[in-house]
Amino acid sequence: MDPSVRALVADLCGEDVLASGESTQQAMRPAPRRLPVAQAVARCSASRVVPALLEGQEVALCFLADGSTVTVPDQCPHDGGLLSDGFMEGDTLVCGRHGWEFDARTGQCSHRSGLCIPTQVASAGLAEGSGPVDS
Ligand code: FES
Repeated sequence: MDPSVRALVADLCGEDVLASGESTQQAMRPAPRRLPVAQAVARCSASRVVPALLEGQEVALCFLADGSTVTVPDQCPHDGGLLSDGFMEGDTLVCGRHGWEFDARTGQCSHRSGLCIPTQVASAGLAEGSGPVDS
């Protein structure tokens, strides 16, 4: 990164927010607004992913093609990107940072065999889950 840009960002933010290696886009980006899952479910449509809160935890709420909803932790196991910044391709959740793909129903990652993020069916109440993250 150009040092003058880095200095400008540091001036604007009051500190060198890029020192940790975060990209400019991440460092400058405000945290997403998160609705409780129950409210988010009522407001969104199929084939979308949005940031939400579930019992105080930041989750990505995935709206599947059939209209059902699933939550996953809102942190990609690859490099910590917000999964809610990604997008849905059918029932596949695609991380917006580097494109890793996860089956939103099972949590299975298509880029690394054996890697599975926990999923939880989200509706009026929460029920099913899948296995823990296996890195
Ligand atoms: S952080 Fe999600 S694919 Fe890299």
